[in-house]
Amino acid sequence: MFKIIIKNTYQEVSEAANEFMRELLVAKKDAVIGLATGSSPLGLYDEMIKDYQNKVVSFKNTVSFNLDEYIGLSDDHPETYRSFMYANLFSKIDILDENVHLPKAIDENDLSACEEYETLLAKYLVDLQVLGMGSNAHIGFNEPNTPFESLTHIVELTNRTRLDNQRFFSSLDEVPTHAITMGIKTILKAKKIILIATGVNKNQAIYDMVNGPLSIEVPASILQQHPDVTVIIDKEAAAKL
Ligand code: GLP
Repeated sequence: MFKIIIKNTYQEVSEAANEFMRELLVAKKDAVIGLATGSSPLGLYDEMIKDYQNKVVSFKNTVSFNLDEYIGLSDDHPETYRSFMYANLFSKIDILDENVHLPKAIDENDLSACEEYETLLAKYLVDLQVLGMGSNAHIGFNEPNTPFESLTHIVELTNRTRLDNQRFFSSLDEVPTHAITMGIKTILKAKKIILIATGVNKNQAIYDMVNGPLSIEVPASILQQHPDVTVIIDKEAAAKL
């Protein structure tokens, strides 16, 4: 069962998401947090930075795991998810580099990178996983038709996802064709999940996730089976509910 929070503005969505993060970080100094990229969690990250600056929370003992990473971009490319996370969050808080984890595959055949990330993750329990969602209801980079049993793996991105993410690159050709991502089964191990989505572009995916049948064509529909998922959305993303 989902808990659904509907807010008027992106700012309110971000603040509502941060209430979950703050509650965890205040209660548990060595919390393990699962983080996502994309524009949806950016406002949450701004709120986390504010809480850090106001000394409400510290990340000194926090451990983070990111969901996914593109394959094929150079390490210094500004659109790697590692660069994104440092630019938008990690460089502005006191998290230690050694406690930051993102998957990284050299190429689309790098299966050992998947095993390594999964083995590392298995040593932790993610207290709070932050998720965005693709307009095709993908979570992480688990595109439609990914088996629900999947662990960390390499995916070929759909055209729709590459087009959605083209805005961050100078041309479609530059958008990577492959990525490494936590699997659906990996994501579901988290104790608590918050999913953030805003805008009309997401409203069909939100409807299908909440009301649709459980289907691998709608990867986020598997969240119906997780015991503790809160969906935090704006009115536009909620329009079809
Ligand atoms: C990418 C990421 C997802 C993210 C999605 C939505 O595909 N791999 O983790 O949820 O984008 O992005 P946005 O929040 O920018 O709509």
